Amino acid sequence: MINISRLKVDFISGTQSKKIIEGIDVHVDEGESVVVIGPNGCGKTTFLHTIAGLNDNYSGTIEIEEDRSRVALILQEIGLLPWKTVWKNATLGLDLQDVGDKSRAEELLERLDLMKYKTDYPSQLSGGERRKLGLVRALSVDPKILLMDEPLVSLDEFTRERLQNTILELWKEKGLTMMLVTHDIEEASFLGERIVVLTPSPASVKEVVGNETMGDVGFRRSEDFYGTAQKLRESLP
Ligand SMILES: Nc1ncnc2c1ncn2[C@@H]1O[C@H](COP(=O)(O)OP(=O)(O)O)[C@@H](O)[C@H]1O
Ligand SMILES: [Mg+2]
Repeated sequence: MINISRLKVDFISGTQSKKIIEGIDVHVDEGESVVVIGPNGCGKTTFLHTIAGLNDNYSGTIEIEEDRSRVALILQEIGLLPWKTVWKNATLGLDLQDVGDKSRAEELLERLDLMKYKTDYPSQLSGGERRKLGLVRALSVDPKILLMDEPLVSLDEFTRERLQNTILELWKEKGLTMMLVTHDIEEASFLGERIVVLTPSPASVKEVVGNETMGDVGFRRSEDFYGTAQKLRESLP
């Protein structure tokens, strides 16, 4: 469970203080998937970093009913280590937590078809494969909560849809509590049980769109999917 209330963030540069987040309330139940959508530059990354504990400079409350070691974050720029192999990147979280058993990373690499690149380096992978490796690394530590910042940005449409399907399957299978931020309307409509629409900077909640019938791959072709996408289009600036 994640509970965020009255979250505010100001950034101070020199003598100037700039409002980045003006007040966000979001609740994510255990096992729920919430997508936060907003235009570029509205404060989504700042929001997610603050929830993940990477920014102490906020007011309001952030409650996460889970041990920090069970919270995984996938950054917008993925954060793979270029000097480490695919295998070493995949097992990084396990190494950091001193877990000797690497079987979960191995299973995920197999499942996402990356095992064949085990001894390669991230620079030898395609954009989609790098994104998959980020997902493997995040999930190999068996998190309960998964936070993702624009996880599929700058991929071709085909790869993006395939990876959205993968994220959906993993979310359901592992019962993850998921929060994803994006500026992509179709991604939000496909992956969010609820979608929180943010205003342009400084960010606050403009609207929350329910999308309860999502949850399988065929949803992309349903009327509800188009209905949700249309609501988001009307709500976004
Ligand atoms: N460390 C920082 N110091 C000052 N301003 C920042 C910092 N990080 C981001 N910003 C500003 O905060 C605003 C929101 O940025 P960001 O959270 O990255 O938006 P988004 O992810 O929605 O594109 C932008 O105007 C950006 O310039
Ligand atoms: Mg961002």
